[in-house]
Amino acid sequence: MPTPIEKLKLGWIGTGRMGYEMAARLAKGGCDIAVWNRTKAKADPLAQYGARVVSDLKDLAARDIVFCMVSTWDDVKQVIGRLLAGSAKPRMVVECSSISLDGSAELRGILKEKGVEYLAAPVSGNAKVIKAGKLTFVVSGPRPAYEAARPYLDMMGTGSSYVGEGELARIAKICHNVMLGVVIQNLCEITILAQKVGMPRHAFLDFLNKSVMGSMFTRYKTPALVNLDFHVTFTPRLLRKDLDLGLDAGREFEVPMPVTSITRDILQQMIGQGMTEQDFSTLLLAQAKASGLDLKPENVQVTDGLSS
Ligand SMILES: NC(=O)c1ccc[n+]([C@@H]2O[C@H](COP(=O)([O-])OP(=O)(O)OC[C@H]3O[C@@H](n4cnc5c(N)ncnc54)[C@H](OP(=O)(O)O)[C@@H]3O)[C@@H](O)[C@H]2O)c1
Repeated sequence: MPTPIEKLKLGWIGTGRMGYEMAARLAKGGCDIAVWNRTKAKADPLAQYGARVVSDLKDLAARDIVFCMVSTWDDVKQVIGRLLAGSAKPRMVVECSSISLDGSAELRGILKEKGVEYLAAPVSGNAKVIKAGKLTFVVSGPRPAYEAARPYLDMMGTGSSYVGEGELARIAKICHNVMLGVVIQNLCEITILAQKVGMPRHAFLDFLNKSVMGSMFTRYKTPALVNLDFHVTFTPRLLRKDLDLGLDAGREFEVPMPVTSITRDILQQMIGQGMTEQDFSTLLLAQAKASGLDLKPENVQVTDGLSS
């Protein structure tokens, strides 16, 4: 009997930094996958792995499972609206962008009306993490839909956590990214403090990464912090969106989030100064400036903990 991976026809919407690498893993894994991106040229290289790149979003409507990875809820709403504009509809949509609980609930309503199953399936990891096979998903929605989509989620990383019905996965992801923002800001503060007291950043981070406080995240951000390579993995604006989603949820559910509030303002100051085009870890540069420190790359080879 063929496995579900051979059987189902997949569609993919959005091949930005994340979507490209996720779709590439499915194509490389031998899935029957058709891909659409607003800027088609970004999707074209996926053809080399066997993906079919389509120019019209409606060409994905008759696929079994359509994955979506764009930026914000407004973008999700636009692309799903266009996907469903004709008479064809997929069996299931798996939406992976980081969006709000309300947006996700609205999407569930839109899809339910059309008889399309829906999983909320945001992710943890950046493009490099995906390439290293370490992406993780948090998923909510009907359990049978999850079981059908699970083999494909597994192909894109190290697996998924099913957290229940409805939009629960969205709040798990929002909480996760609130932690991302707070941790990167604190990591920048303590790295600058250690340097200002007299030690090289690579020496401090080497200790931290080997300690109980070290994590996959602190390790994979270490090359950026040591050698000041800030090519973008995740933009300051996307991080601000997630901190705002966290603060909105905190207000709605009456949970004080003082550390998140101040982190959001620090990030806003950086964005207001025009630091928007590089990686969010340029918070290090903002912290150095505020501390009267002129940063230089250390040009030391350090591991990101991902490459084998
Ligand atoms: N980067 C990370 O580390 C990371 C990690 C976890 C989760 N996320 C989340 O994953 C999502 C994607 O992030 P990313 O870093 O991959 O962003 P990205 O590189 O900026 O890619 C955004 C994608 O969305 C498409 N898009 C945006 N608005 C659109 C619209 N109105 N209509 C059609 N397509 C639209 C873009 O198309 P074009 O190519 O035409 O611009 C592109 O394919 C975001 O929700 C982000 O918060 C990111």
